[in-house]
Amino acid sequence: MSVTVFVPRDSAAISVGADDVAKAIAAAAKARGADVRIVRNGSRGMFWLEPLVEVATPAGRTAYGPVAAADVAGLFDAGFLTGGTHRLSLGLTEKIPYFAKQERLTFARIGVTDPLSLSEYEALGGWRGLRAALTMQPAAIVEEVVKSGLRGRGGAAFPAGIKWRTVLGAKATPKYIACNADEGDSGTFSDRMVMEGDPYMLIEGMTIAGFAVGAEEGYIYLRSEYPYAERILLDAIAAARAAGFLGRDILGSGRTFDVHLRRGAGAYICGEETAMLESLEGKRGMVRPKPPLPALEGLWGKPTVVNNVITLASVPFILEKGGQAYADYGRGRSRGTLPFQLAGNVKHGGLVEKAFGVTLRELLYDFGGGSATGRPIRAVQVGGPLGPYLPESKFDTPLDYEEFAAAGGMVGHGGVVVFDDTVDMSHMARYAMEFCVVESCGKCTPCRIGSVRGVEVIDRIRAGTRRDAHVELLRDLCDTMKDGSLCAMGGMTPYPVLSAVEHFPEDFGLARAKPGRT
Ligand SMILES: Cc1cc2nc3c(=O)[nH]c(=O)nc-3n(C[C@H](O)[C@H](O)[C@H](O)COP(=O)(O)O)c2cc1C
Ligand code: SF4
Repeated sequence: MSVTVFVPRDSAAISVGADDVAKAIAAAAKARGADVRIVRNGSRGMFWLEPLVEVATPAGRTAYGPVAAADVAGLFDAGFLTGGTHRLSLGLTEKIPYFAKQERLTFARIGVTDPLSLSEYEALGGWRGLRAALTMQPAAIVEEVVKSGLRGRGGAAFPAGIKWRTVLGAKATPKYIACNADEGDSGTFSDRMVMEGDPYMLIEGMTIAGFAVGAEEGYIYLRSEYPYAERILLDAIAAARAAGFLGRDILGSGRTFDVHLRRGAGAYICGEETAMLESLEGKRGMVRPKPPLPALEGLWGKPTVVNNVITLASVPFILEKGGQAYADYGRGRSRGTLPFQLAGNVKHGGLVEKAFGVTLRELLYDFGGGSATGRPIRAVQVGGPLGPYLPESKFDTPLDYEEFAAAGGMVGHGGVVVFDDTVDMSHMARYAMEFCVVESCGKCTPCRIGSVRGVEVIDRIRAGTRRDAHVELLRDLCDTMKDGSLCAMGGMTPYPVLSAVEHFPEDFGLARAKPGRT
């Protein structure tokens, strides 16, 4: 009987040799006369174990990793096809603590299946949300999403259902669904994992959104740095169309929805929703003033739902199980789960889907295992390049949009970038300002010019030139950027910069404020 061996096709796994491992397993199986079926699945999100090879055994899926092509002969010798023990044995995949401790709702299928297999998608619950939505009126679909408490996962955390309600109520037609897959935040990869590991889930979520607001076309705006995601998405869209899940008369319902893919050209600002819309329309990605809101005047001036990949990918679960089932996870106004992404100087980097309320310390140590270098973790940046740098005193704050913000943090898209005690935070402050110089769209002065002046001022502080006066100037400049910028690029760059000064003054040659003084 044939044995199924899983070797991920996720680009993180491929980058560390998964293709070579798959080839080596196929060759060894042939040479030894073993009947092996290789399935190229998505990643389980335990990146330090990639390439993570799994074998389907009667006891469950047994994992080995990280496997190199050179390990393959030894794995065969150890009888890995029947779950045999080897120095790379990890036991049953789902019992690996990093994995077992998660609450995987959106990522439930990722890493389990061949991402392009329609039959496996359906067998593991795929299209159930869509089938439920087909029996509902648009307003009822919207209300289910409102009830779930789902908030935008792209950064701003705006309630998805409320946005959909606005688009549903808009009079103009046609309407559009625009999926933001620009994923520009530092250390983030959850959108990519969804697109590479479970693309039909995103297609299903977009289609449900289309039914909910009365849109017949959707666009995925994909960052150019994701060539594997592009290939998988194009194949998935074609397969879904051929099987009647996209296009005209979906599943005989008389309803129409189709998805198109557009590739960006590599600008961070094109992740900002209005710049993304400009870019989708074929123009240079520059920010549009708001109002009008994209929900009323979005793509080609028409009502548009702009949602992040994870937001849309969360929708099939909500329609299948009900908004309440999703809202049962989380705390406060942060309902459901968030796929956190551990990156930077961390021992166990990867994807951790947990309900809101988990603390940074749990993510960093219980999941992440501390720093990769083994040195103390000194600072963490959560929420992308515009997120503040946080010191250890903030690590016990629960990750919940409001509570984390009250502690000076930003949850954003859930990226967690770790730095050990060798980091120079004045260098990181300069880096944050310089990032704004490079990525500013140039439309408004506080951001375009302010960021250039900001780098100069930080350089003077670092050089020790009239330090106190320059720190005051930096604070003034940051106030101007916060208050006067048209979008969050210029408006939020001050957060990483000032948080570095606030929490790590010694790195700027400044004295620490006495306790009790701000
Ligand atoms: C500079 C900047 C970059 C952004 N980059 C992204 C991005 O890469 N992906 C994303 O989904 N949202 C990004 N956003 C947030 C979007 O503007 C918007 O809030 C989001 O796409 C809406 O979808 P959501 O409500 O589902 O989060 C960015 C915002 C700013 C200001
Ligand atoms: S803040 Fe920066 S990125 Fe945003 S509109 Fe102004 S110049 Fe463009």
